[in-house]
Amino acid sequence: MNALRKHNGLHVSERSANLTNVNETIHAVLNLDCLHLLKRIPSGSVQLIVCDPPYNINLAAWDNFGNYIEWASQWLHESERVLSETGSIAIFGGLQYQREAGTGDLLQIIHHLRSNSRMLLMNLVIWHYPNGMGAHRFFSNRHEEIALFGKTNKYFFDLDAVRIPFDSATKATYLRDKRLRPDSIEKGKNPTNVWTVNRLNANSVERVGHPTQKPAEVIRRLVRALSYRGSTVLDFFAGSGVTTKVCIEEARNSIVSDTSGDLMDYLSRLIPQIRVDSLPFKILNESELAAHPLFVDERNQNGTR
Ligand SMILES: C[S@@+](CC[C@H](N)C(=O)[O-])C[C@H]1O[C@@H](n2cnc3c(N)ncnc32)[C@H](O)[C@@H]1O
Repeated sequence: MNALRKHNGLHVSERSANLTNVNETIHAVLNLDCLHLLKRIPSGSVQLIVCDPPYNINLAAWDNFGNYIEWASQWLHESERVLSETGSIAIFGGLQYQREAGTGDLLQIIHHLRSNSRMLLMNLVIWHYPNGMGAHRFFSNRHEEIALFGKTNKYFFDLDAVRIPFDSATKATYLRDKRLRPDSIEKGKNPTNVWTVNRLNANSVERVGHPTQKPAEVIRRLVRALSYRGSTVLDFFAGSGVTTKVCIEEARNSIVSDTSGDLMDYLSRLIPQIRVDSLPFKILNESELAAHPLFVDERNQNGTR
């Protein structure tokens, strides 16, 4: 804390992040294979990767690989390259299905990254969902994991943006306790690494038809904590496009892609749900990609036009 006060309360991750003023956001929505897209992204340019990959569990036609970790290692390697020094990657997954069908799971990915990359495991978040299917031959699944890796120890982390307010009774009790700082109590509590958020039900208003659409609330907590206004979030397994919706609402730029041509249809169903107080935004297609701030910044840095 003393070190923080010396630098106006800013952690090293915030001092090295480029906290710019933002008055509109730009979002590329593409129909590309993850590796084709990654090869085009400049090194060190992305603040956050939201990564919810297929896991070889035959959920759909896209979920079937011969050698899963060999394939995954290619996009993991590229992900590390494109992240900025303050950047991080959030990888969704689980391990409960491993013996049922496929060969890939989050444990293998974590092991691979710890053995083959310099990235640092900052958290294994347990996303606990109280709703789900019942099971008879094992305990019913009620959690999925999200592995958070920082590219370096300068990874950006904005705890204040995701604090959870105390309920009024707890707050009143804490405010009477002279050992506690009132400003910390006002800020709310750390959400911890166990997040309880329902999965989307079939009749959820958020649901747009993608079989594994994640709740916006989960994506929002990642985006708020691990990126900052005006930075770029990348999601190359975009599915429903929920990352784009959250980035529009949270004033981040984004690049999202999926091999499925349904992405734009799904997203067009999410766009009417975007909060009305969001900044103005533009959607770019593949032929307009060069106009995305990520590429404009790169041209400016290289002095090319
Ligand atoms: C688990 S889903 C992502 C769901 C998404 N997070 C959401 O909340 O809507 C994985 C997605 O990866 C896409 N996909 C599979 N293989 C891909 C590849 N090689 N490149 C890009 N996308 C791919 C699938 O079409 C699928 O939509």
